[in-house]
Amino acid sequence: MKTNEIRELFIRYFEDNGHQAVESSPLVPGNDPTLLFTNAGMVQFKDVFLGNDDRAYSRAVSSQRCLRAGGKHNDLENVGYTTRHHTFFEMLGNFSFGDYFKEEAIHLAWNFITEELKLDKDRLWVTIFEDDDEAASIWLDQIGIQSDRLVRMGKESNFWSMGDTGPCGPCSEIFYDHGSDIHGGPPGSKDEDGDRFVEIWNLVFMQFDRQDDGTMNPLPKPSVDTGMGLERIAAVMQNVHSNYDIDLFQNLLSAIKNISNQGDDSHYRVIADHIRSTAFLIADGVTPGNEGRGYVLRRIIRRALRHGYELEIQTPFFFSLIFPF
Ligand code: GLY
Repeated sequence: MKTNEIRELFIRYFEDNGHQAVESSPLVPGNDPTLLFTNAGMVQFKDVFLGNDDRAYSRAVSSQRCLRAGGKHNDLENVGYTTRHHTFFEMLGNFSFGDYFKEEAIHLAWNFITEELKLDKDRLWVTIFEDDDEAASIWLDQIGIQSDRLVRMGKESNFWSMGDTGPCGPCSEIFYDHGSDIHGGPPGSKDEDGDRFVEIWNLVFMQFDRQDDGTMNPLPKPSVDTGMGLERIAAVMQNVHSNYDIDLFQNLLSAIKNISNQGDDSHYRVIADHIRSTAFLIADGVTPGNEGRGYVLRRIIRRALRHGYELEIQTPFFFSLIFPF
């Protein structure tokens, strides 16, 4: 299944389940000084979760362009060294604003991956927040997940927040096992950072609004925010173990190979990823600079250039990849 088809299937599935399809917002969050970049699908709905913005719908679905470089969610230094990290990526997400909560969120997600995408249930693992017995019982008693595939995790990995302040809550993540030929262990094990068991979907049960001093105020209504990396699920659906092997990256990688010498795969991954973030940041109005967002963009460009020099790409050729005219 092509990446574009997965995106369409996701949006249509949630529309059929009563969700309003909402366009992606820009990478620069409107009116939110607490965030450098849009780092998740929920960012454009922050005020709805907080009860400060009323919408005509209580369920939404989107495919959001996201940037995770700088700020709380920062994957910049991972890019190149794993097959699953990006600074720029698309996040598929469904949202409930005081409508459904844990039970329907889990059923909707499970049904999508097992009935629509037809993923092999034997390759799926689930994590929950350590004391979330309600989520545990939905997974075990209603979905029928095997108890040895359900892992309780601490707040580092299973309590999600957008930034240092704002909406947050415990979460439950779904992992896909890419198979024993890939290095890595299940979530919670000492080898969990390998590329074998990859988190494909995070279901956040939004319940609190974290304040500057760490106080957790309850949200007006318990809500749901989910995030599934489009490139990660495309890798699963296209039977490849690296996000960089999916259809979406092929033209970019061959353009890089056309102007470079042979080198380690990590250099190609860095350049392909950073070209996407650079192009989308510039399209959303960010220009390289000495501080804030502009400085992050400058670091991304410099990092790509550094890896380009390893492949003996000349600077003008590098820029021709970002501005192909
Ligand atoms: N907002 C859910 C996530 O980014 O994982």
